[in-house]
Amino acid sequence: MYCTRKLTEDITWLGANDRRLALFESAYPIPEGISYNAYLLSDEKTVLLDTADKAVASRFLENLAHALNGRPLDYLVINHMEPDHSATLEEVLSRHPETKLVLNQRTLAMVRQFFDFDFDLDARTLLVKEGDSLSTGRHTLTFLMAPMVHWPEVMVTYDSADKVLFSADAFGTFGALNGYIFADEVDFTRDLLLPARRYYTNIVGKYGTQVLSLLSKADALDIRMICPLHGPVWRGDIDCIIEKYRNWAAWEPEEKGVVIAYASIYGHTENAADIIANALSERGVRNIAMYDVAVTDPSYILADCFRYSHLVFAAPTYNAGLFTAMDTLLRELSAHMLQKRTVALVENGTWAPQSGRHMRAILDTMRDITILDNTVTIKSAVKAPTETALRALADAVADSMR
Ligand code: FEO
Repeated sequence: MYCTRKLTEDITWLGANDRRLALFESAYPIPEGISYNAYLLSDEKTVLLDTADKAVASRFLENLAHALNGRPLDYLVINHMEPDHSATLEEVLSRHPETKLVLNQRTLAMVRQFFDFDFDLDARTLLVKEGDSLSTGRHTLTFLMAPMVHWPEVMVTYDSADKVLFSADAFGTFGALNGYIFADEVDFTRDLLLPARRYYTNIVGKYGTQVLSLLSKADALDIRMICPLHGPVWRGDIDCIIEKYRNWAAWEPEEKGVVIAYASIYGHTENAADIIANALSERGVRNIAMYDVAVTDPSYILADCFRYSHLVFAAPTYNAGLFTAMDTLLRELSAHMLQKRTVALVENGTWAPQSGRHMRAILDTMRDITILDNTVTIKSAVKAPTETALRALADAVADSMR
C-alpha cells in the first residue's frame, strides 16, 4: 500500500525508509535507518526526480504508481546516478516506455556503465547542461551542475514556480523518516543536527570546496524548500541547515570544544585520557567528547572532529606502529580533508614508543593542523612525572582555546 506525502500542490514525496540496513555504503552504521527520497512533479507534464535503492524498490514503485494515478510519466530527472538513487531506474523505464531521461553527459556515461538497455537510450534522453531549463507547464525546472557533491555527475534541479531545490545528496541526513517529512516537524537540534552532521561529514565532507561552490549558486536563488535524497525536507526557515553547511564545508569548527580519542589495550592510555579530560574540565573547558576508538565507529568520532576546535589523540604503539583503530581514524580524518584544528598527542609503548611519530606523520598530510609541542610519552603506565606532563598538556590545550 502506498505511503506518499504532498509537499506542495504539485510535488509529492514518494520515497521509502530502510530500517534494516546495517551499513550505509557498506561503511557507515545506521542504527537510525535511512530514507531514500524521490519526488514526483505533477504538472501538465509529469516529472519524477530520481528513483530509489533496490532495498525499497517495491514500495517506491507502488508510491510512484499511486502518485501518477494512471498518468504517463513524461520525464525522469537523474540528479545523482549512485545506485542508492538509481538502482530502480531500469524498472521504472521498463514500466514507462514513454519516459524521457533528463540528465547530463556525465550521468549518461554512468547510465551506460551500470545498465544494458534493450532500447535506444539516446532516443529517450534529453541532455542538459549548466543553466538549461525544462518547462512542464506551470513549472520551469533549471538544472545546475554540482560536481563532487558527492559524485562527479551530480546536478541539482531548481523549480522556480514553487521555489524548490531538489538538492541530490546535499542537505541529506541519516535516519529513517519516522512519520515526519519536513524538518520543522521535529526539533532540529535534538533530532536532526547529529545525523545531519554525521551524514555530511562522512559522505560529503571531503568535498567542502565543491559544496561552497554549490552554496554560492544557491545564494542566487529564492529557495523556500530543499528536497534532498535522504532525510527530511527543509522548508521555511532553512537558514539553520545552510549555515551549518557553510561551516562544515569550510572545515570551520562549529564551537570550541575538545574531542579526546584514545585507544587503550590495558587501560593505561585510557587513564591518561581521563586525566587530561579531568584537567581540562577543572580549567573550565566545556564540550569535551571522549571516544575509545576501538569501541566507537570512526564515523561518529569524525563528525565530532568536524564539530569541535581541539583534538587530543592518545594511542599505544602496536607492532612497532600505531594501534590499528587509531590509524584508521586518523586516515579517515585525512581522507576527509579535516583542517584548521589544534591537536595534542599522547603516545604509549612499553619498550619502544612509536605511536606519536606515526600519528604525527598522518597529521602532517593534513592542512592547517597545529600540533602542540608537549607530546606526552608514557612508558607502560602513568607515573607521577607523566601525570605532571599530562596536566601540562591539558594546560596547553586550554590556553590555546582562549
Ligand atoms: Fe545517496 Fe551519493 O548517494
